[in-house]
Amino acid sequence: MAVAQLHADVHTNAVTAAGSGPQLAVTLCGVRFPNPTVLASGILGLSEQVFARLAQAGVGGITTKSCSLKPRAGWPNPTIVNWGEGLINAIGLSNPGVEVMVEEIRAAKKLLAPYGVPIVASIFANTIYDFGVLARYVSEAEPDLIEVNISCPNLDAQHEEMFSSNAYVSAQVTRVVKRNANCPVVMKLSPNVEDIAAIAISVANAGADAICAINSLGPGLVLDIETARPVLANGTGGVSGPAIRPIAVRCVRDICQALRNAGLKTQVIGTGGVTTARDAIEMILVGATCVGIGSAVYRGLGVFSEVTSGLVDYMTRHDYEGVEQFRGRALDRIK
Ligand SMILES: Cc1cc2nc3c(=O)[nH]c(=O)nc-3n(C[C@H](O)[C@H](O)[C@H](O)COP(=O)(O)O)c2cc1C
Repeated sequence: MAVAQLHADVHTNAVTAAGSGPQLAVTLCGVRFPNPTVLASGILGLSEQVFARLAQAGVGGITTKSCSLKPRAGWPNPTIVNWGEGLINAIGLSNPGVEVMVEEIRAAKKLLAPYGVPIVASIFANTIYDFGVLARYVSEAEPDLIEVNISCPNLDAQHEEMFSSNAYVSAQVTRVVKRNANCPVVMKLSPNVEDIAAIAISVANAGADAICAINSLGPGLVLDIETARPVLANGTGGVSGPAIRPIAVRCVRDICQALRNAGLKTQVIGTGGVTTARDAIEMILVGATCVGIGSAVYRGLGVFSEVTSGLVDYMTRHDYEGVEQFRGRALDRIK
C-alpha cells in the first residue's frame, strides 16, 4: 500500500509523563528534550499545522526533512511503499531549499517554544564546501541542533561514494560544519558501511557533539510480481521500519561501546525501526540518549505518547527515576 495518503490520516493523542513519577526529560548536547523521542528526518513535511500536532502528540524533539542549498524535486511517484515489514522509499531528497527552510524553522521555533520541544535542522550537500555554506545559512534560523545527513554522494570523490562510507571524509565534513554552525552538531551515519563504529569515532574526534544512527538501509528492491516491475518508480530505495531494527540496535551498540572504550562522551540518537516503548527501551539500553522515530509515524502520531507512557511504566516497574539510570545498561552484557 502506498503510504503517502497516510500523511493526512495521522491522529493526535497527547499524553505527558506524570510530574511526580519517573522523569522522562533528557539533555542532548546541553539541549533539553521533554522526553527521549525525536521525529526522524524526512518523515513529515514542514507546516505549522504539522508542528502543532506533533507537539500536542507528545513528541520530544523534531528533526526537519534534510535540506540542500537549492530546491530539489526528487524522484517521481510512487516514492514510499509499505511492503509489510517496513517501508521502502526513494524520495530523492526532495526539499524546497535552505532559503525556504530557514523561514519554516523560524516559524516552527515560535510555535514549539511553549511546548519546550527543540528543533533539529537536517542538512545535506554533495561537496564538503557546500556543507559549510549550508551550515552557516541554516544557522540563521537558530535551530537547537543541526543534523548532518552524510548518506549522500560526494561529487568530489572518485566513484561518488557516500560521505559516510569514508571515516576521513566524514571527519572533514564534521569539521567544516562545526566551524560554520552556531549550535551543536549531530552527524547522521549510514548503516551501509563495514565498520560504523570507526566512522563514529572519526566524527567524534573531529568534534561532532552527537551521532544519529541509523539512516535507512539498502538500497533494497521490492517487486510487484504481477507486473514484474519494482514497486518504486525509482526501482530501488532505502529500507526502514521494523525490518531494520535489529541492525539499528547493533549499530547503536557498536557506536556506544566504541565511544565508551575511547573515553568519548559523544551522545547518540538511536534510530531505526522503533515502533513501541519496548523498542525505544532497547535503544536506550544500548546507550542511546534520544530515540528517533520515523516509519512508525505513518501509523499515527499516537506513537509518541504510546512510547512515552510505555517508558513511564517500565521505569516505574524498575524503580528508575530518570532515563540515565538504565541508559547503556546492556553494553557490558553483550559479547
Ligand atoms: C520517507 C522517508 C524519508 C526520509 N528522508 C530522510 C531525510 O530527508 N534525511 C535523513 O537524514 N533521513 C531520512 N530518512 C531516514 C529516516 O530519518 C530514518 O533514519 C530511517 O527511516 C530509519 O528510521 P525508521 O525505521 O524509524 O524509519 C527518511 C526515511 C523515510 C522512510
